[in-house]
Amino acid sequence: MKEQLALRHHEFGKADAVLRLESLPRPEPGAGEVGVRLLAATINPSDYGRMDGRYGLLPELPAVAGREGVGVIESLGAGVEGVECGQRVRFTDAGAWREQCCLPVESLLVVPEGVPTDQAAMAFINPPTSYCLLRQFVDLKAGDWIVQNAGNSAVGLAVIQMAKALGIHTVSAVRRAELIEPLKVLGADQVVLEGSGWERGVPDLTKGKGLRLALNSVGGTSAIAQLKALEEGATQVTFGGMTGEAVRFPTRYLIFNDLRLLGFWWDAYCRTAERGAVEAIMAAVFEMQANGSLCLPIAGKYSFSEYKEALAHHQSPRLGKILLTP
Ligand SMILES: NC(=O)c1ccc[n+]([C@@H]2O[C@H](COP(=O)([O-])OP(=O)(O)OC[C@H]3O[C@@H](n4cnc5c(N)ncnc54)[C@H](OP(=O)(O)O)[C@@H]3O)[C@@H](O)[C@H]2O)c1
Repeated sequence: MKEQLALRHHEFGKADAVLRLESLPRPEPGAGEVGVRLLAATINPSDYGRMDGRYGLLPELPAVAGREGVGVIESLGAGVEGVECGQRVRFTDAGAWREQCCLPVESLLVVPEGVPTDQAAMAFINPPTSYCLLRQFVDLKAGDWIVQNAGNSAVGLAVIQMAKALGIHTVSAVRRAELIEPLKVLGADQVVLEGSGWERGVPDLTKGKGLRLALNSVGGTSAIAQLKALEEGATQVTFGGMTGEAVRFPTRYLIFNDLRLLGFWWDAYCRTAERGAVEAIMAAVFEMQANGSLCLPIAGKYSFSEYKEALAHHQSPRLGKILLTP
């Protein structure tokens, strides 16, 4: 039987402790399926949540890790029509850190020509989240200002680039001064340092305009600083909790400033959105990737056998995603 390499865990725990490089049977496409070879997969914070058992939706064990990647169709099962070998598609989200998978033809998300393969590998979770965060909570107009933390994250960088294309201005908070210039080069209007008291200088940052929307993927004191900075009636959307700290409930800002605190989860959106909505968002993401207005940096590429180095790089200060390329 043909084999393939995969990164798999048999229990929940810290990635470094539970992840193993294993040889698994290579699947052959059945009727109505296509066989897909991985080109590149992404490492995301949610992969760690799924491995250590903290994520909102957990896999059955043993589980191949990873949720995002792009592959190329290499074989067609009986009765498959409408796609051909050589086309690039989203790789399986149920364990993307493997070399081969089979997918039902009706589930395929085809990557249009013109989208660079590395960008396509990072297209399916963070950019559509950024798109939804900018479009679905506040009716933003060109000239409006928003604030976000983790400005150097993939979501943060996609927010910066998409907002720029929409004429919306961004204040992005980061933890390291060396990120300020690179983020400005990528299109950020203002980049501030966490813990610097930036929230007291909003009129200077925004030339007198208020902040209508805050995007929070950090939590803790970073989220509180955002709430202090927002204008009356503004909205904070929480979609991540990188610090892992408990969030203090900001009673006085809710009452006296009439703030709205909301949450967002792309996975849930994909399950509940109206027919065609996810496809329309992905089409918008692919178009921006193809025309270059959305281009996320890559900090490193590693083969499956170098996965320990890849995880270590992912957990160290960086600007850009880590890709696994078999
Ligand atoms: N709800 C959803 O649907 C959804 C979808 C996509 C992503 N997310 C969430 O969005 C966040 C960003 O994801 P991503 O893939 O864009 O991230 P990423 O590119 O891997 O970057 C990670 C970011 O988190 C920051 N960070 C790491 N540890 C931190 C800590 N202890 N305190 C403060 N900041 C910390 C990093 O800053 P440094 O460089 O300073 O370490 C960096 O800005 C994650 O929380 C992820 O789970 C949520």
